Formats: sequence, C-alpha cells, structure tokens
Amino acid sequence: MDSTSPAHIILIGFMGSGKSSVARMLAAKTGLRLLETDELVVREAGCSVADIFAKEGEDGFRSRERAVLKALSSQEQSVVSCGGGVVVRAQNRSLLAELGTIVYLEVSAEESLARVGQDDNRPLLRGSIAPHQLLEQRRGWYEEIADIRVDTSAKGVAQVADEVYQRLSELKVI
Ligand code: S3P
Repeated sequence: MDSTSPAHIILIGFMGSGKSSVARMLAAKTGLRLLETDELVVREAGCSVADIFAKEGEDGFRSRERAVLKALSSQEQSVVSCGGGVVVRAQNRSLLAELGTIVYLEVSAEESLARVGQDDNRPLLRGSIAPHQLLEQRRGWYEEIADIRVDTSAKGVAQVADEVYQRLSELKVI
C-alpha cells in the first residue's frame, strides 16, 4: 500500500465465508461505505452473475471483475466485499495488496455448501470442479495476500465481525 492509496478494508474468502454480511456489519461499525465487487460487476453488465457466466464464461466474468477492482483505487475509503474468485488472477492479487488491508475469512467447503450451495449466482459450486478442490486450488492465494485471517467455522456473523474489527484496531487500520 502506498501513501496515495485509499486504504480500503478488503474482505476475501471462499463462497459462503460470510464476506457480504461481515462487510455490512463492519461498514456500520466504522461508518465507511460498503462496496461489493459482484454488485458492481452486475450493475456495469446490466445482467446477473449467472447470466454473465452463461454468456461470457468465467473468463468474461473475471475480466469484468478486474475492471471493477481497478476502479477501486479512485474510490473513497470503503469496506469492500470481493467475489470468492477474485484471487484467481495473479494481477488481481497484486492489485488487491496495493488497495488496502486484506481480511481473509476462512471457511470449509462443507460449511460453504451448507450456507450457499443452492444459489444461482454461484455457478462454480455446481461446476465440473468439486467445491473442496476449488477451495484447495485457491487457499494458497487467499493466504498469500491476507493481512488478517479469521476462521469463521461455527461462528455467527456478529462474532466474526467483532473479531475482524478487533484485529483491524490492533493493526491501527481503524
Ligand atoms: C465466485 C464467487 C461469487 C461470484 C461468482 C464467482 C467464485 O461470489 O463472484 O459466482 O469464483 O468463487 P461470492 O464469493 O460472494 O459467493
């Protein structure tokens, strides 16, 4: 992060790790604006995540996601909840590291499926790669860029948000 960066608080992690709900609570606690990369992609595309995957494939979705990330550098400081696959492209990982403090919410593949398994906007949970394999592919990427890691298993959203808030205070980010 350099002195001109907006120092966002960036939540990453696998689908169903609770990023959106925790981000909402953190935004309320800190008074910062809340941004969701999926929401920004959908707004820009004018159709749903499921439709983008169907029409443009995962690659098309990832390009749209990258454009959204690039635009974050000129946004006011925010709590940013990222789609679970944002770490797949190496360029995104280095960009995220420049954009602020990265909070990795850890979840098991089993708990992820139990929380969000039936959602149309997560086509990859019903793709050719099993969720636990997808998580294994990505785990190292999440860990590589995380400034803070919080295990979410068997914890409610409020507890996770409190833990993240505490860790951000210890790091003097907030
Ligand atoms: C994806 C996660 C989704 C969404 C899209 C792809 C992924 O976001 O961006 O379905 O590759 O893990 P959530 O992590 O918010 O579910």
